[in-house]
Amino acid sequence: MEIYRFAQEIILDAGEFIRNRMIEDFNIDSKLNANDLVTDVDKETEQFLFDKIEERYPQHRILGEEGAGADIEDADGVLWIIDPIDGTLNFVHQLENFAVSIGIYIDGKPYAGLILDVMKNDLYHAAFEQGAYKNDEVLHDIEESSLKSSLISTNANWLVREGINAPFIQVVKDARSVRSLGSAALEFVNVVRGTSSAALFFRLHPWDFAGGIILLNEVGGITTTLLGDEVRLLKTNSILAANKTIHGELTEYFRDDDSFIKNHKAFHKL
Ligand code: IPD
Ligand code: CA
Ligand code: CA
Repeated sequence: MEIYRFAQEIILDAGEFIRNRMIEDFNIDSKLNANDLVTDVDKETEQFLFDKIEERYPQHRILGEEGAGADIEDADGVLWIIDPIDGTLNFVHQLENFAVSIGIYIDGKPYAGLILDVMKNDLYHAAFEQGAYKNDEVLHDIEESSLKSSLISTNANWLVREGINAPFIQVVKDARSVRSLGSAALEFVNVVRGTSSAALFFRLHPWDFAGGIILLNEVGGITTTLLGDEVRLLKTNSILAANKTIHGELTEYFRDDDSFIKNHKAFHKL
């Protein structure tokens, strides 16, 4: 549990680092396209966490969105998977609704998941089979629900993407309603807290889901691909994070659509 306690300390320190740093000017660059932004604060926060982990545990490996461990191809040993700022667009446009996310895996098995809502300074954390917490408060098992009586979260981009959007559109039609927060980690948190029953993504990277999967597991939820398959820890995946009842219901929408299956397979190089 020593690594878990250390992770709690440094993620809170990273939050303080971001809150202090964002008061000053920072540069904003684009990555793959004009809407894919990264700021100095993303990079500096990853470096901040990297330095702390490396100093304390030089033998641990670190995979981060902004470049740490870019050559990592297996999950051997202790692996930290870090998103220094999840929800960079919210960070830039809203100055809230963004998170630091950490998932720690040992030989590929879940060890601990931590997500910090930076501006609220709320830390969601869980160690494998030890329950999940919001700060010091225990989080209880989530309730089961069906789609027609549920709020779910997804990103509107998937609804306008031809080839994959048909099942998303039908899910939106059949749900009670849909919310979109703009931080995958905080969307996981909403499922963990039970304020949303499911979160659906066509594509996430390891740093977007590594912490959330462990947290959700501890409150009786489940995370798979949209087709119900096991998530590949070091690859991009589609993600369905949900309570078990709605999870079963939702996978049927995607499994019944041949065009979705074909495009999903090609996109994720399955
Ligand atoms: C993004 C956010 C967003 C999700 C994107 C992610 P970033 O992460 O989690 O909600 O829809 O797929 O890439 O780039 O802000 O760390
Ligand atoms: Ca992210
Ligand atoms: Ca990020």
